[in-house]
Amino acid sequence: MARRLRMLMRMGNLTRTGQVGDGREEALVEHVLEHAAPGDLDDVIRVIDEYAYRQATLINVGDEKGLLLDAAVRRAQPGLLLELGTYCGYGALRMARVMPPGARLCSIEFNAANASVARRIWDHAGLGEERVAVLHGTLGDGGATIGRLTGRYGFGPGRVDFVFVDHVSDAYLPDLRRILDRRWLHPGSIVLADNMKVPGAPRYREYLRDAEGKEWRTREHRTHVEYQSWVRDLVLESEYLRSPDAGDQGATGAAPA
Ligand SMILES: C[S@@+](CC[C@H](N)C(=O)[O-])C[C@H]1O[C@@H](n2cnc3c(N)ncnc32)[C@H](O)[C@@H]1O
Repeated sequence: MARRLRMLMRMGNLTRTGQVGDGREEALVEHVLEHAAPGDLDDVIRVIDEYAYRQATLINVGDEKGLLLDAAVRRAQPGLLLELGTYCGYGALRMARVMPPGARLCSIEFNAANASVARRIWDHAGLGEERVAVLHGTLGDGGATIGRLTGRYGFGPGRVDFVFVDHVSDAYLPDLRRILDRRWLHPGSIVLADNMKVPGAPRYREYLRDAEGKEWRTREHRTHVEYQSWVRDLVLESEYLRSPDAGDQGATGAAPA
């Protein structure tokens, strides 16, 4: 509990920089390289969870909510996945473990140091660039990251099967709108959003409530904040049904210029 409280006191730094501020993310890389079997995804995930429980808590999706993430990816059987907020690459490791052969995950991270931490951990786990790519940037950076996704990674109308939204709560709705504006989703695409209670993303939740049964169908999963069992959290799993302006054709029309 004391570790958790110290962590909460560092929340300002975390929100501003994407790191806790005491070097724990960089130390995690050394820990993983020393203690996890190379090329063994299960073992790398196990060692990160152990580090978060015993040494320094991390803002990964964590083991409890991670099961919801695993199950959603298994159900969706996605070919192209997008993650908003890479951090140390833990959520991506979990998705990579259950996504189908040939699938690819692109993960967006605004902090360059976190992107480097994730890449080194994935390399140790044996996850190549063709399976999981990290892009340093944001969807709101004026087109640079979106341009790389479309130019290099095949993002385009109807191409994205699964999105894991787990970056900064203020950006949940604006970034979902950026994805919708480009018509990247298709009917049946799944968007999973973490931290819907702590810290919460009220505008995102309200948008989904208003669209329930029309553009989206959402299930709310009750769970707990990562790496403890006393603070409750919510994960939203939303299936995209159709665009409001697409008739029965869903969201697969032409993308805006
Ligand atoms: C909760 S952590 C992500 C955890 C990760 N999804 C996992 O489960 O392992 C949030 C991350 O989002 C990053 N971030 C913050 N704002 C962002 C933005 N606008 N776009 C992309 N990443 C962002 C932070 O630097 C931080 O690394």
